[in-house]
Amino acid sequence: MLKILNLEAGYGALRVLKGISLHVAPGEAVAVIGANGAGKTTLLKTIAGILKARAGEVEFDKRPIHHDPAERIVRRGCCLVPEGRHIFGTLTVRENLLLGAYSVARAARPWKLRRRQNGDHDIDGTLEQVYELFGILKERSSQLAGTLSGGQQQMLAIGRALMSRPRLLMMDEPSLGVAPLVVKDIYKTIVNLKRSGLTILLVEQNARAALAVADRGYVIETGQIVLQGTARQLCDSPEVQRAYLGKEYRSIDE
Ligand SMILES: Nc1ncnc2c1ncn2[C@@H]1O[C@H](COP(=O)(O)OP(=O)(O)O)[C@@H](O)[C@H]1O
Ligand SMILES: [Mg+2]
Repeated sequence: MLKILNLEAGYGALRVLKGISLHVAPGEAVAVIGANGAGKTTLLKTIAGILKARAGEVEFDKRPIHHDPAERIVRRGCCLVPEGRHIFGTLTVRENLLLGAYSVARAARPWKLRRRQNGDHDIDGTLEQVYELFGILKERSSQLAGTLSGGQQQMLAIGRALMSRPRLLMMDEPSLGVAPLVVKDIYKTIVNLKRSGLTILLVEQNARAALAVADRGYVIETGQIVLQGTARQLCDSPEVQRAYLGKEYRSIDE
């Protein structure tokens, strides 16, 4: 579904991604784990078209997308839940969710209205599905998003991404800044999303949580993939255990 070949990106003189290659097959959950500053966010931003690729290729559904603007990539079915969530605190929960449907709703041209009525862009139906997944968002739908806890805001950010009806959901550190118990809730939701057929690309410093839900994973260090394998292989790897599953990470998840 997603295929990345020798991807390079950075900021000004700073070269961050130094030739990243990876792939995600339909229905898979793939984790990219790495320390703070390794380039995980830069990788997802580049796939999402928020940051321009300097070299290399990104293919989604066998089509190159690395020259596409961000909103077209969302319309193609590839959506990012950004690090830090970026929800609109002064809008209600429901308004935040509806914003997630904006790019797909706008894409519905008048001559496609019948399709939309037939449910292709059934915004109310999608909203109901998101409410089913996150009961708390339904309960708090008319509350200002800024009043939600960190975990609830993360659920809102995931819900908002789901409003665009993605086929590939990319998540940037969904466990960051979230209480340990809530991390479990969020990861349970990720498992449910995967079971429902959604393809997932997840980046995390919290290797333990990410590898527990992922089928496969990659380890990124200073903009390069240094290790890859099944989640099991990575969990068993001494390098991963030492650098990413050490004592200091255990407290986040347990
Ligand atoms: N907007 C930016 N401008 C300049 N440098 C940045 C910017 N964002 C990130 N960086 C730098 O790029 C490198 C990779 O950052 P990032 O992709 O955010 O890493 P990670 O998400 O793995 O923590 C870091 O050295 C960081 O300081
Ligand atoms: Mg990051």
